[in-house]
Amino acid sequence: MEGVISAPAPPRIPSPDADDLTIRDARPEDAAAVDRLDARITELAKPDYWREIFARFSGRPDSHILIAEVGGRLRGFIIGEVRAWEFGSPPSGWIFAIGVHPDHRLNKLGSRLFEAMCQRLRESGVKTVRTMLARDDNLNMAFFRSQGMMGGPFTQLEMPLD
Ligand SMILES: CC(C)(COP(=O)(O)OP(=O)(O)OC[C@H]1O[C@@H](n2cnc3c(N)ncnc32)[C@H](O)[C@@H]1OP(=O)(O)O)[C@@H](O)C(=O)NCCC(=O)NCCS
Repeated sequence: MEGVISAPAPPRIPSPDADDLTIRDARPEDAAAVDRLDARITELAKPDYWREIFARFSGRPDSHILIAEVGGRLRGFIIGEVRAWEFGSPPSGWIFAIGVHPDHRLNKLGSRLFEAMCQRLRESGVKTVRTMLARDDNLNMAFFRSQGMMGGPFTQLEMPLD
């Protein structure tokens, strides 16, 4: 149309990550690397928390920690589980942590982790997947919206206890 300037979309550069990517179940010895990656993302090391999560999730069929490896190195993780009858809700999947190494973002590692987690949750028999994020967390909001997630029927309430 005359008068409308439309720049052509930049060509997508094929990502070397995509060809070399493996998604697998976490092993106990991954806890330290997950802690390191999470600490890099959140600027807060939580070794006790990660040890406890890995111990609690081990051997539970409806709780999953998945790892993304590129070239054999841990570059991403996602954690999810089935939660039943919270506040009257039928069993549903919850994703409560995800992280991709900053040098490997926008190469679909996050999408592949999310898809793999959804498949695990489907196999557990649930029909819905949920997550929670801060309202001003634009990066995670853009990511989860890109996967098809939308506002759900629950709302979160809180108050200080001091
Ligand atoms: C969110 C996150 C997991 C995305 O991982 P990723 O591998 O880069 O994601 P993908 O390449 O699969 O991106 C999928 C889509 O998400 C959206 N998206 C991802 N990063 C984005 C960004 N920086 N800006 C806008 N949209 C973005 C896009 O729609 C993208 O699709 P497109 O590339 O076709 O445009 C990653 O950025 C991350 O680890 N962020 C920090 C997460 C965090 O805060 N963890 C700690 C608390 S749990």
